[in-house]
Amino acid sequence: HRTTALADLLLAWYDRHHRDLPWRVSPPMAARGETADPYRVWLSEVMLQQTTVQAVKYYFALFTSRWPTVTDLARADNEDVMKSWAGLGYYARARNLKKCAEAVAFGHGGVFPDTEEGLKALPGIGDYTAAAIAAIAFNRHSAVLDGNVERVISRLHAIETPLPAAKPEMRALVAAMTPQDRPGDFAQGMMDLGATICTPRRPACALCPFNAQCRVLGQDDPELYPRKAAK
Ligand code: ADE
Repeated sequence: HRTTALADLLLAWYDRHHRDLPWRVSPPMAARGETADPYRVWLSEVMLQQTTVQAVKYYFALFTSRWPTVTDLARADNEDVMKSWAGLGYYARARNLKKCAEAVAFGHGGVFPDTEEGLKALPGIGDYTAAAIAAIAFNRHSAVLDGNVERVISRLHAIETPLPAAKPEMRALVAAMTPQDRPGDFAQGMMDLGATICTPRRPACALCPFNAQCRVLGQDDPELYPRKAAK
């Protein structure tokens, strides 16, 4: 079945080429059924919204050493949290971070909800973040779609509908591709592929695990995808 084959190609690529990021569990650990700490996954995903992986590494280390658990963060002084956030920008995100920590610590006994719906009910957690945490921390079969994944999918399927109208179609294609057994690794593999191979400019198609299946490669210029609505 074609969709299964695509997931297998991506996971084999991820096993060899994944980025070692401090909030991840290694693929061998994941294969044994171990999952990442939901607090660390949540913190990294909030920080990664509009900030590069490289910049986030420093702040992630700072926060997790000062506040090792969500309850520690919930009990922290607001001023301390805002000061530690300085440099990441978007202070509304820091305020929501603190509110979310308080909701988990004091409203849920320090335990993150393990479903997309439950996660979305928390402050500052939207569609993308809920899907990412559900897949990465809880091995839920959720379709994770960020800018990187949109680019990979739009090229793989030569999607002519421009963004943002194409999003529902893209989400359905990602859902159909997502494997039952390793949805978190699959989501992170798609993000890594978009960040390192299927880049906005001059993608490294020769190194891509999808290069034999990609509808754009060899037909059109990959840089023209995803299509954007005329301004
Ligand atoms: N961008 C946002 N979240 C990410 C993750 N978990 N892995 C790689 N890139 C990301």
